[in-house]
Amino acid sequence: MPNYEAEINRRRTFAIISHPDAGKTTLTEKFLLYGGAIAQAGAVKGKKNARSATSDWMEIEKQRGISVTSSVMQFQYEGFCINILDTPGHQDFSEDTYRTLMAADSAVMVIDAAKGVEAQTRKLFKVCAMRDIPIFTFINKMDREARDPFELCEELEHELGIETYPVNWPIGCGKEFQGVYDRGKGEIIHFTSNGGAKAATATQVRLDDPGLDGLIGQRLHQQLTDDIELLDGAAAEFDLERVRHGKLSPVFFGSALTNFGVEPFLEEFLRMTTPPLSRSAGELVVDCMDDAFSAFVFKIQANMNKAHRDRIAFLRVVSGRFDADKEVYHVQGGKKIRLSRPQQLMAAEREIIEEAYAGDIIGVFDPGIFSIGDTLCAPGQKFRFDPIPTFAPEHFRRVRSRDTMKRKQFLKGMEQIAQEGAIQIFKTPYTGMEEVIVGVVGTLQFDVLEYRLKNEYNVDLYMEGLPYEYLRWIETASGEPAKEEDLILGTDVKLVEDYKGNQLLLFGSQWAVGWTQERNKDLTFHEFGGASF
Ligand code: G4P
Repeated sequence: MPNYEAEINRRRTFAIISHPDAGKTTLTEKFLLYGGAIAQAGAVKGKKNARSATSDWMEIEKQRGISVTSSVMQFQYEGFCINILDTPGHQDFSEDTYRTLMAADSAVMVIDAAKGVEAQTRKLFKVCAMRDIPIFTFINKMDREARDPFELCEELEHELGIETYPVNWPIGCGKEFQGVYDRGKGEIIHFTSNGGAKAATATQVRLDDPGLDGLIGQRLHQQLTDDIELLDGAAAEFDLERVRHGKLSPVFFGSALTNFGVEPFLEEFLRMTTPPLSRSAGELVVDCMDDAFSAFVFKIQANMNKAHRDRIAFLRVVSGRFDADKEVYHVQGGKKIRLSRPQQLMAAEREIIEEAYAGDIIGVFDPGIFSIGDTLCAPGQKFRFDPIPTFAPEHFRRVRSRDTMKRKQFLKGMEQIAQEGAIQIFKTPYTGMEEVIVGVVGTLQFDVLEYRLKNEYNVDLYMEGLPYEYLRWIETASGEPAKEEDLILGTDVKLVEDYKGNQLLLFGSQWAVGWTQERNKDLTFHEFGGASF
């Protein structure tokens, strides 16, 4: 039996975020490569036109070259057991990113050195900041012409509102990119290209080494000396506590493609980031070292792979050890269950596992019993982890099957996709189930819905835009359901129900929300509701 505490302490679970194309996939691939989890570069992602990224499951992702769903990978590196959570780069899927971040203990933010902070960086960062998790910045593509590193750090601070601490500093950029200066050790890590296949060959040289001019050239040497002076005089001190509270971001420079600076980054990052963090369940704080097993569902994904037409619930183990033979208690379902076919994902491969520890992410077969945010714990315990909030949808469409004979498949598909949290679905009271109102945060989610209904359920959708942008769950003073005829509603307000029977109002404008509240004083409005299906 492995040492329980040591197993947990060596775990690191983080999410990786970036604006599309900044190099997230390439960096992930290099991590896997160093950890020996893949044999050669390119195994994660081939050329763009034949993008076979392990983390890109869906056809639509390949077509558009974006990552729609987040995936999970585990690998070992220098004694650490690392769980990487990939996140969708596109803002329309920020809710998915948020849920994924609930399962992570820190985040790595990849920035393109030529572009700096981009639109999606801003959005994703905002989602990270909501959780106050430590954010580590990797400024990538230094092998190309890059912007001034001071300017890049300033932009991060200014645009994202987080202080930065450069842990290392680049020496040149583009063809002249020679390596990085490690500020902690006071030495230069000089790289030699080896075609980008495996870790770059690095030589460590002290800053006062007389041979430095010969190695990096006099001009770059002088520039580095000036830069270091400036850096050391700059404000932010390194403070691990502030890093761990998401207030200070350690910054690293490198090039994922050529491997320059990737391994030093991984090593420092693993040293600075935390072992599994505790999670709250109301008043209770569940610590990773608690003996009893506990976990929560942060993601549900159906039909990830045509060869496995099943539904997988992803769990983050919060405490204890998961043992495949033992029963667990599903709090929301009120039942003891055995988790079937627990598996870990390594790139496109799935591996059945016998045990997992706090910090790990496991996928279990879901016969349709789990919802996002559900708690699993040891039999005899009943706490619930704090719920994962749903984002309020901002776009609504009326959706039905083009072929009325396919009503059953249509409903099944819609409900399943809603249970995964990929869309929210509503219906109007008194009407049948032929049509459903779908709410999403970003309109690309509609494309995914249409694609998946066609591919997984063989249903062609008819969609019609609805002029609503806001939504409020409602509650009457008596607790009885509100009757439409008793409500005073304007023309741009609609009464609907979610799939748990909770009532909501959809509004065309913020103004209409106020107007309606003013005229229906018996109603209480809630911005965040319970579940939405
Ligand atoms: P993403 O997951 O963040 O969307 O980015 P991805 O890793 O797919 O990288 C986007 C493009 O940038 C890829 O080129 C990749 O090879 C390139 N890239 C990543 N890191 C570096 C780097 O450090 N330096 C340079 N010069 N390029 C980098 P592509 O041509 O779009 O795709 P591919 O043909 O290489 O697959």
